Amino acid sequence: MFNEKLKIRFDYNNMMDKFVGVKEGISDEDIANNEQFAINAFNTFESIRGTGMTGWADLVNYNEQEINDIIKTANDIRKNFKNFVVLGIGGSALGPIAVFQALCHLHHNDLPDDKRNAPKFYVEDNVDPERMVALLDVINVEETMFNVITKSGSTSETMTQYLIINDLLTKKLGDNAKSHIITTTSSSKGNLIKISKKEGYKTYYIPDSVGGRFSELCPVGLLPAAVLGVDILEFLDGAKYMNERCSSGDLSKNPALMSALLSYIALQRGKNISVMMPYADGLKYIADWYCQLWAESIGKEVDKNGNKVFAGQTPVKSLGVTDQHSQVQLYTEGPFDKVTTFLAVDEYRKIVKIPDGCEDIPDVNFLCGHTMNELIQAERVATEYALTVKNRLNRTIYLPILNAYTLGQLLFFFELETAYMGEMLGIDTYNQPGVENGKNATYALLGRNGYDQKREELNNAPKKLDKYVI
Ligand code: PA5
Repeated sequence: MFNEKLKIRFDYNNMMDKFVGVKEGISDEDIANNEQFAINAFNTFESIRGTGMTGWADLVNYNEQEINDIIKTANDIRKNFKNFVVLGIGGSALGPIAVFQALCHLHHNDLPDDKRNAPKFYVEDNVDPERMVALLDVINVEETMFNVITKSGSTSETMTQYLIINDLLTKKLGDNAKSHIITTTSSSKGNLIKISKKEGYKTYYIPDSVGGRFSELCPVGLLPAAVLGVDILEFLDGAKYMNERCSSGDLSKNPALMSALLSYIALQRGKNISVMMPYADGLKYIADWYCQLWAESIGKEVDKNGNKVFAGQTPVKSLGVTDQHSQVQLYTEGPFDKVTTFLAVDEYRKIVKIPDGCEDIPDVNFLCGHTMNELIQAERVATEYALTVKNRLNRTIYLPILNAYTLGQLLFFFELETAYMGEMLGIDTYNQPGVENGKNATYALLGRNGYDQKREELNNAPKKLDKYVI
């Protein structure tokens, strides 16, 4: 039932002392000594799976009726709209961006209409006024479907964008404006659901048990993906395959559990930074998506018992080969505070040959006859080697090819790794008090009702001193 040929592989050789030396490396004994600890984390997660905020883990058992409805809606949009714009931020934006980059043409929006098989796609995940104006310079709202995505239904950024777009649509289209807006939000909480009901918008629901950064496999990610022509059933099946592979606490079989344990041991030994380095432009924004998942889930002041732990590992994105010429110097010779995860693809979806030329210059001509595919693979292997000989922990996740099935596996791998890591650290993986605090401060600054206390808190904060501004 699962496609073994498209199985992604987790290679952790270069995390081990045999390869990076005994001082930095993790030994077989370290893993054996922590086996029960990992099993406990696995069991704790399994015991809460599907409850509280872990509903994301059950999204692989999708509701067929809802998926069919998404596909039907997406097909209508593909036929009737030139542009599809997501209004959302954080977990309501990073997944759609990552999937777009991974599974569509790398210059999708620039393709001529007859070569682009889906609407142009934009994700507006900021409130920079210049960007809003820039968007409106390149789209005609009358030819555009807007998907407003916010679980809480109250995030200032997204609701601001909604207000601007709705105003514009209403001025141009009157009552027909509502056929240009689809909302994706909580069915029970927040303002967007109220607005959606009042206006009669087509609405998809984000289950209450699924947090923003874990929401790519629900309508948050599935509708934009389907609009882009992604086979969302393959995507979900890929995730299901990873779920199946991670269904036991056996470290030798469960790649996400092994990955979490290695991350945990590395973190205990001062590896405070996790570098995500894909060697494929298609995977570039998976690094952004991962950064949010890892940072917001693992970065916590207190553990589940309220003890101050200041847990976390700072995620950093990097792109192979581009950042070899920018960051790899630091990674190979700087502080021993990082673990690098390479994302590799066995087979790129295109092959580009390097033609003959420069016959009189052997130092250039040696490239001729090779392919860009060979070059990028050689550079990845070379960087992996450069890190390893300098005793720098690194690991590689191989995708046989980048498609919906392997991408589904990859995203679910990271979600599970994050869940296990959270249990190992004994923290609440699914809350984000730091983010909420910033959101509340914004509400207070802009005069939202009910935020007087926060406003007072901000007013009483120490005033900045001119002497420190030069
Ligand atoms: O992961 C999270 O919960 C957050 O990053 C949210 O996705 C982000 O703050 C946006 O929230 P909302 O979807 O409620 O607008």
